[in-house]
Amino acid sequence: MSDEAVYPVTDHFRNKALVDRDTYESMYQRSIEDPEGFWAEQAKRLDWIKPFSRVKDVSFARNDVHIRWFDDGTLNAAANCIDRHLEQRSGQPAIIWEPDEEGGENRVITYGELHREVSKLANGLKSLGVRKGDIVTLYMPMVPEAAYAMLACARIGAIHSVVFGGFSPEALSGRIDDGGSRVVITSDEAKRGGKTVPLKQNVDEAVSLCRESKVESVITLKHTGADVSFDANRDCWYHELVGKQSEDCPVEEMNAEDTLFVLYTSGSTGKPKGVVHTTGGYLLHTAITHEYVFDYRPGEVFWCSADVGWITGHSYVVYGPLANGGTTMMFEGVPNYPDVGRLSRIIDKYKVATFYTAPTAIRSLMAEGDKPVAGADLSSLKLLGTVGEPINPEAWRWFHQKFGKGQCPIVDTWWQTETGGILISPLPGATDLKPGSATKPFFGVKPALMDAEGNELEGATSGGLVLKDSWPGQMRTILHNHDRFVETYFSTYEGAYFTGDGARRDEDGYYWITGRVDDVLNVSGHRMGTAEVESALVAHDAVAEAAVVGCPHEIKGQGIYVYVTLNQDSSPSDELAKELKQWVRKEIGPIATPDVIQWADGLPKTRSGKIMRRILRKIASDEFDQLGDTSTLADPNVVDDLIEGHRVAA
Ligand code: PRX
Repeated sequence: MSDEAVYPVTDHFRNKALVDRDTYESMYQRSIEDPEGFWAEQAKRLDWIKPFSRVKDVSFARNDVHIRWFDDGTLNAAANCIDRHLEQRSGQPAIIWEPDEEGGENRVITYGELHREVSKLANGLKSLGVRKGDIVTLYMPMVPEAAYAMLACARIGAIHSVVFGGFSPEALSGRIDDGGSRVVITSDEAKRGGKTVPLKQNVDEAVSLCRESKVESVITLKHTGADVSFDANRDCWYHELVGKQSEDCPVEEMNAEDTLFVLYTSGSTGKPKGVVHTTGGYLLHTAITHEYVFDYRPGEVFWCSADVGWITGHSYVVYGPLANGGTTMMFEGVPNYPDVGRLSRIIDKYKVATFYTAPTAIRSLMAEGDKPVAGADLSSLKLLGTVGEPINPEAWRWFHQKFGKGQCPIVDTWWQTETGGILISPLPGATDLKPGSATKPFFGVKPALMDAEGNELEGATSGGLVLKDSWPGQMRTILHNHDRFVETYFSTYEGAYFTGDGARRDEDGYYWITGRVDDVLNVSGHRMGTAEVESALVAHDAVAEAAVVGCPHEIKGQGIYVYVTLNQDSSPSDELAKELKQWVRKEIGPIATPDVIQWADGLPKTRSGKIMRRILRKIASDEFDQLGDTSTLADPNVVDDLIEGHRVAA
């Protein structure tokens, strides 16, 4: 072992875990040497309608990228998440919901009830003309009906496209358009931290902005009871629609490779990409990782704090836990409302066994000292988890001490929207922990580090993180744009999937993710394309040019740092800076609000006109001595001006 602090596997997990050290080694070995045999066996954890005869048909070759798993088998995801559990668990809680308002009415939904609710909504969707293969857009609060809606789509073979409730009408309309959705499911309002978000109003605006899609039906859940405008030809209430439906809805037989859902994520260029996940592989991957990474046992309460609008919510609030017949916790609110003790009180109230959250949430609580756990018992916890961004060791230790009482391991899980589920992570019974490291690959995962020339690096080293072979939960394509899929992920390194992340591997073979190496920001664990923010900015009349980079931020991990060149008839002012921040907020959503705006007369460009972002990143991060070679700039003098401007802006 190297000299970093190491937290060995605890006695509890050494004796009780599903996977111990030896089992991990032998299963991992097997999964790499005989992936077909390994995954064929693991696929038995799903209920198939028609068994598959082929396990894997994959090519990462640039001229023929295709990824297919179990592609002559058929199944239904909703049947796997609900129906097959009914015999044993119809009275067991499937979803526990805690409202934003503490002390407000909570809800416990059993598998039996989940079955009825999903079936009725599925019939309701059918009555509106939704058919197998149609894309239905969901723009929902964190309420059980969001999960019902996802599963109702899955039940009838429709494809869900969930859009995070924090995105703006503009962003929503782009996603409705791209998916060609004719049906949108939403709510009057969402509630978060005592505030409301006007979801229905946003949908109305988004629908009017759509250029391609003709939205025919908007199903609206009455949640806060707020007054909302209603278009009698287009809108219907959720409760009225499901109220008249039968509780019997046969499941649609789906091919393993039929699309289960589309989820948009930011890339380094262009508009957000519609990441396509299919039915069999995705479900298998989320189920197996949920069981082994979290050492999940039925009966335990599993709490993943992500919103269902993100992949983490898809995989570890809904599909993974429900595929395993588990009890999944859904929390509508935020960690600091009504105060910072809320999360620990929820853990105590529901005897949560596993709490899986984001480093940014941990850092914001850590800033409050002991308050977040004051008076809490927390003895129900056996395991903690993090996801979304690198966790700094200080935050790791605080989480381990304060929430885990020094007893609960933390699984730092590395994965992406594109990977569907966890790929690099400790297993609590098998892996000694090092704070800040996502540690070792999961079964079937073949990570490698590459140098800039495309050579694979051996031993303890750093490089671009790639995956050399497929795993069942891998995204299959970008909706409507397979060329972009190939270009984005398979053109940097021949024959490998490029993650966009850099990583270090230490002498123990542990991986340490260092962050994105492309123009993607990670703000509070949320992905944000610099190009998206830039194009929002240049759409403002005053802006001639904008360049967006990340800067270090104590709580968010990364902040959004913007260099703006104004048009000649505009001049810098605090009001204009405020206006531009508001503008981006409105164009994309609050998560894209710039942290710093720096006025810049010129940007560092090469003679061919390309902006050298490396220099802008270094200036935004106060690393003036690491600007590197600036001699290739068309005008090297802009650098001094930018450094001066940075001192004023920051
Ligand atoms: O940079 C990595 C970071 O988040 C990116 C993926 O973002 P997204 O698709 O939004 O999915 C987030 C939730 C799965 C990755 O490319 N990331 C995710 N998990 C970790 C991480 N960075 C370091 N450590 C992690 N555990």
